Amino acid sequence: MLITLDEIETPAPVVDLDVLERNVARMAAAARERGVHLRPHAKTHKTAAIGRLQIAAGAHGLCVAKVGEAEAFADAGFDDLFVAYPIVGADKARRLLALADRARLMVGVDSVEGAASLAGVFSAAGRTLDVRLKIDVGLHRVGVAPERALELAERVAAMAGLRLRGVFTHAGQAYGEPTPEGVAAVAGDEGRILVETGARLRAAGIPVEDVSVGSTPTARQALRVDGVTECRPGNYVFNDGSQVALGTCGPEDCALTLVATVVSVPAADRAVVDAGSKTLSSDPLRPREGGYGQVRGRATRLSRLSEEHGVMAVAPGESFRVGERVRILPNHACVVSNLHDRLLAVRGDSVEAEWPVIARGRVQ
Ligand SMILES: Cc1ncc(COP(=O)(O)O)c(C=O)c1O
Repeated sequence: MLITLDEIETPAPVVDLDVLERNVARMAAAARERGVHLRPHAKTHKTAAIGRLQIAAGAHGLCVAKVGEAEAFADAGFDDLFVAYPIVGADKARRLLALADRARLMVGVDSVEGAASLAGVFSAAGRTLDVRLKIDVGLHRVGVAPERALELAERVAAMAGLRLRGVFTHAGQAYGEPTPEGVAAVAGDEGRILVETGARLRAAGIPVEDVSVGSTPTARQALRVDGVTECRPGNYVFNDGSQVALGTCGPEDCALTLVATVVSVPAADRAVVDAGSKTLSSDPLRPREGGYGQVRGRATRLSRLSEEHGVMAVAPGESFRVGERVRILPNHACVVSNLHDRLLAVRGDSVEAEWPVIARGRVQ
């Protein structure tokens, strides 16, 4: 039986299907226009139904961060998965070996030790695992510096049990850029540095087939750089308050909101909803501070969270009443899905489906 948004229990994450479908289609078209493969990062939604929409729109497989996410998506029938994370250890390698029987797999590496731990398990089984080298283009998190990439690539390429397929990066530093021009500069660097690194490896005889970039703020520009073969944005499918603040999209492009109920109005300038950090996460707004969520259609923001309370700093001229429902745009959509068992897919005011978050909590 179809229910409406007014009838759902709160707090609840809802996905606006019209917006989601438009986001999926736009990114698919941007990649298709350039002949670049789109491999969306599924850590954002962790949901089979959304992954299927992305594949139906032309995505070439999915990207995940964890072996457990890869297992969850393989269980749901996805057969082309890139674990875009430096996977380390024989325990993980044994799970990947089992997974390789039912999916085309690729895995990230950024160290000799990590690569060797995968190579040991795969070569002992007489199998080969496809790997890509993670390159640091400025985030300074994981990834080998471009000038050290050749040395590492030569060592990885020589390991029995591994096949080095290419290079990948994530220009997450874009999230700290205060202006769209700054984000554009990061996107340009992301594509250029990665393509140059790939070319240097090729010149040394290493067959680099894949040059894979990917973050939502940089995706549309980075995928246009000549030589890029793949793009892996994740957040674009939902977008969120940070993407709006970065200038990546407008509020009308945000598909994921939290429906919450005002449970208390203790003062004219303070109202409290039933969505706290366990519903919205405590992730900050990027690239500049701005509380913990925006009330849709209002100027009011959440200024403070505890686990089950979201405290709204009521904007001048606005007011809320106990029992009223609001929709909150989260700062960071990717962490919100991981906090919920299911997402409600809505069209207009009607709930059309309940989607289980199949890879929720798969952090191993
Ligand atoms: C390796 C990697 N690839 C792709 C992405 C997707 O980036 P975004 O969430 O900006 O879409 C991420 C995000 O953290 C990532 O770590």
